[in-house]
Amino acid sequence: MQALRFAAALYRARFDIVYHGYVRRDPMSRLHLKPGRDNPYAIYDTVRAGGDLVPTRLGNYVTASYPICSSILRDRRFGVRSSEINGPGAPGDSLDMSFLDRNPPDHTRLRRVAQPAFSPRQIGGYRGLIERSVDELLDRALAKGTFDLVPAFAAPLPIAVITDLLGIPEADAGRFAKHGATIGGAIDGIRGLRHAAELKAASDALDTVLTDLITLRRQEPADDAVSHILAAEGDQIQSSEILPMCRLLLVAGFETTVNLIGNAVNALLDHPAQWADLCADPARLAEKAVEETLRWDPPVQRTARCAFEDIEAGGRVVKRDQFVITLIGAANRDPSVFSRAGTFDIHRTPEADHLAFSGGIHYCVGAPLARLEAVIALQRLAERMPNLRRAGAIRRRNATLIRGPIEFPVHADRRVLTSH
Ligand code: HEM
Repeated sequence: MQALRFAAALYRARFDIVYHGYVRRDPMSRLHLKPGRDNPYAIYDTVRAGGDLVPTRLGNYVTASYPICSSILRDRRFGVRSSEINGPGAPGDSLDMSFLDRNPPDHTRLRRVAQPAFSPRQIGGYRGLIERSVDELLDRALAKGTFDLVPAFAAPLPIAVITDLLGIPEADAGRFAKHGATIGGAIDGIRGLRHAAELKAASDALDTVLTDLITLRRQEPADDAVSHILAAEGDQIQSSEILPMCRLLLVAGFETTVNLIGNAVNALLDHPAQWADLCADPARLAEKAVEETLRWDPPVQRTARCAFEDIEAGGRVVKRDQFVITLIGAANRDPSVFSRAGTFDIHRTPEADHLAFSGGIHYCVGAPLARLEAVIALQRLAERMPNLRRAGAIRRRNATLIRGPIEFPVHADRRVLTSH
């Protein structure tokens, strides 16, 4: 009976999207349909043309404006959920996303527990692992010549890092990666009954791996994130909050970084002169290429905030408990802030910080790690595969919140390299 109700709700939601997207031209619905799913940026422009704050058909607001996005993300009168809802998981949530999904004071308390795992000293300690992983993956890819950039390069790197960060034992790493990918892939929502069942199975299996790990680290603490989190148990974090926090670190750290690497390589191969520039000076330009990708084609396209009270913004009043959808991908191309906003240019000195990692108290805690992974990945790719080229069309993931390729066939010719 529950499954039937779930299926009915899912199909009704799909019908609504098709109707409102194709018939009523509602921009938020059009994001889920072709061609908006492939290229949301044209739709963001229509939102921007509608004003700073545009009402949505579900009674909330959406903004494509950089100044409005930026100020709402930093405004403490907004939260990630209604101030009325406390405790784990808003109604209807399938997964507890720990402090990503909490308002202060819970957010402040839980984030403080996770933060030490991302200190500059800890992050710097990952450089060796990242360089080794990148080189091993590129060795294997070069031996093949033609390969899919996502499963062969972009995905295994963040998995290796997050496995190490959490301290997952070697024997569990394979299962951990597989189930983590299933859960990460569902960030955008559940596509159907079969997907829901797959997700439940993956989530249960992952919980088993993480629960075993938590038990192990209670007995034998090590220098990893789980041990650091456990050190705060009872005092700053309840036992029941530990598993969701580990899950958050996995999901937030994995799916996003894969797409950053995929989007960066995709943009660079679409702009061959800039790929050539990067190959000529990888040590200097890899970081700039990563930052420009984060601005121009960010892996996380939007987030949302809920008003705790009636608040004036963008010439409108956002009522208490109304949400504002902050279109990060649109704000990063706001022509009132960035010159040639729609142009990918790794040489630019941007007029403002992009919002790819959000802003305010929920600013991505893993940003330095994501940057380090992506910069090393791009630098080594440019150094070792300057002749990298497409070997087929990319296929994008069927998602609107997370943006990136799921299949990315490429070719790199080893013979040309060895003759250098
Ligand atoms: C390119 C890679 C990444 C991108 C684009 C990204 C993006 C984001 C964004 C936009 C948010 C805030 C969402 C909001 O304001 O509602 C966020 C939060 C978060 N991210 Fe990342 N992220 C990335 C990598 C990582 C990594 C590698 C980790 C950890 C290993 C991580 C862990 C987190 C956590 C724990 C939060 C919650 C912060 C909070 O609510 O206070 N992220 N990320």
